[in-house]
Amino acid sequence: MMIELSFELNGFPVEIDVEPHLRLLDLLRDGLGETGTKEACGEGECGACTVLVDGRAINSCLFPVGEVGGTAVTTIEGLTGSNGQLSQIQKAFLDNGGTQCGFCAPGMIMTTVALLAENPRPSESEIRSALTGNLCRCTGYVQIVEAIRQAAQVGEVVRP
Ligand code: FES
Ligand code: FES
Repeated sequence: MMIELSFELNGFPVEIDVEPHLRLLDLLRDGLGETGTKEACGEGECGACTVLVDGRAINSCLFPVGEVGGTAVTTIEGLTGSNGQLSQIQKAFLDNGGTQCGFCAPGMIMTTVALLAENPRPSESEIRSALTGNLCRCTGYVQIVEAIRQAAQVGEVVRP
């Protein structure tokens, strides 16, 4: 059985017929071509698939599309400007070596957007606490924490 789904994706309306038990991750990547959101564990453990639903960071690998109707979804693609310029948060990750293989980066950055929208000047412990659901096998986290501190200092808050 298919359901008719209407929601907003990165500021644009989406209307699509989907299986209600499809994962949001699959709709984004396979159905809508938004491949910036990554899948690693597929079990809610690593945060690679993090996107925002009405501003809340969620694991899209566990989120059924049936719950997306009427919401506003933001993915990593929604942070760049209309001509592809990076947001300050993305620049901060690049400036500080917060990405190496880069696989965790979209999820880390979306978690950061949610954190800074709620707490624009987080302490280091608040940053580390916010990142507990996002795993990185490359950086050791120091550069990621520095990137988030820089993004907070620049003061750009992306309002999802
Ligand atoms: S892929 Fe979703 S939490 Fe790991
Ligand atoms: S940069 Fe490789 S997993 Fe984080």
